[in-house]
Amino acid sequence: MLTFKEVSLTDQALLEQWAATMTAIMSHDLPGFPPTTPRMAFLWQKFGRPGFRQEHFVAFDGEEPVGRLEISFPLLDNLKNAYLSIDVMPSVRRRGIGRQLYDLALERVKAAGRTTVLASTVWTLPGIEAHDGGAGPAFAEAMGLGCANLPEVMRRLDLSKLDNDALDAMYSKALAASEGYRLVQWGSHAPDELVEDIAYLDGRLIEDAPMGDLAIEPEKVDAERVRAHERAAESRGRIAFNTGAVHEESGRLVAWTCIAADGETPWHAWQNITIVDPQHRGHRLGALVKVANLRQVLQARPRLEVIDTSNAFVNSYMISINEEMGFRPIWAFQSWQREL
Ligand code: ACO
Repeated sequence: MLTFKEVSLTDQALLEQWAATMTAIMSHDLPGFPPTTPRMAFLWQKFGRPGFRQEHFVAFDGEEPVGRLEISFPLLDNLKNAYLSIDVMPSVRRRGIGRQLYDLALERVKAAGRTTVLASTVWTLPGIEAHDGGAGPAFAEAMGLGCANLPEVMRRLDLSKLDNDALDAMYSKALAASEGYRLVQWGSHAPDELVEDIAYLDGRLIEDAPMGDLAIEPEKVDAERVRAHERAAESRGRIAFNTGAVHEESGRLVAWTCIAADGETPWHAWQNITIVDPQHRGHRLGALVKVANLRQVLQARPRLEVIDTSNAFVNSYMISINEEMGFRPIWAFQSWQREL
């Protein structure tokens, strides 16, 4: 008989079990994924994700943690939706634990008045192995979720194999094509004069992202939301490195990229957003800001070993820049949804 405990800041032992469960599951299904340390778990719980309410449960078989459930309820938009993440320890799979966690999820989602559940699983693509043996997609289907057919691919840059000559060549070509633009760089807090443009670019990226049949409306991003994300990320121990390109004639920020690292895992970083305003595409600004930002990060994080980034399978422009920089596919993901 399973029991479920809701993770809270006041129960340190449970927080540690939650972190250990996540790390064990990730190292099985996504080998090489950065671990969740107890301190990270504490900070994530204390400083939640801005614009969301989250519930976290750990499932126990007797004293032993065997799985976890995370439900994220968006609070500012997408008010019908709930995002689920269900994980079961590899050694106890196929014993009905996932199904019980899903039943608990549905109970919580219905209690919150939400009508659509969305989830993500690992996925198999040519040349990219799924380490869960196909369990995620089979489970999602068995729970009645439909495949959105919008694969995402995570690529990794292994810094021990960095080709500096190739990066120099990319950068020179980008510089030559981007006359009339100048680079700006900042850390975890954007300069006040850029924050409106950052909100515009962030919102633009979300609007442009391919959503297929997924019942997701673009998030509304404004300057206050940008600041809330910065505060939450910093409180959670994240260190950000940003590079942008300003169009000199208009003074507007028209390209932007961000790499974020967690203070707990000096060997790892995430290449997050990169966006060029559609009106300013064709000047190699994407390559310009990405290479400049990578160099900024390499200087500041000497113990860094790898950088991971995820792109929609169909985002050929960004993928070609990433491949040119040396990023190579490691994992693929698929999105799922069900109307309740
Ligand atoms: N192959 C085929 N069907 C499977 C498999 C598999 N490996 N695993 C689960 N299923 C299907 C079956 O229909 C199964 O019913 P059955 O055993 O009566 O045939 C049904 O799913 C329920 O299986 P459970 O035993 O309840 O699932 P389990 O406890 O093994 O957990 C899970 C499944 C969560 C997918 C686990 O393998 C896991 O943690 N994988 C990695 C993370 C992941 O992909 N999570 C799912 C995200 S989708 C979501 O959250 C809604």
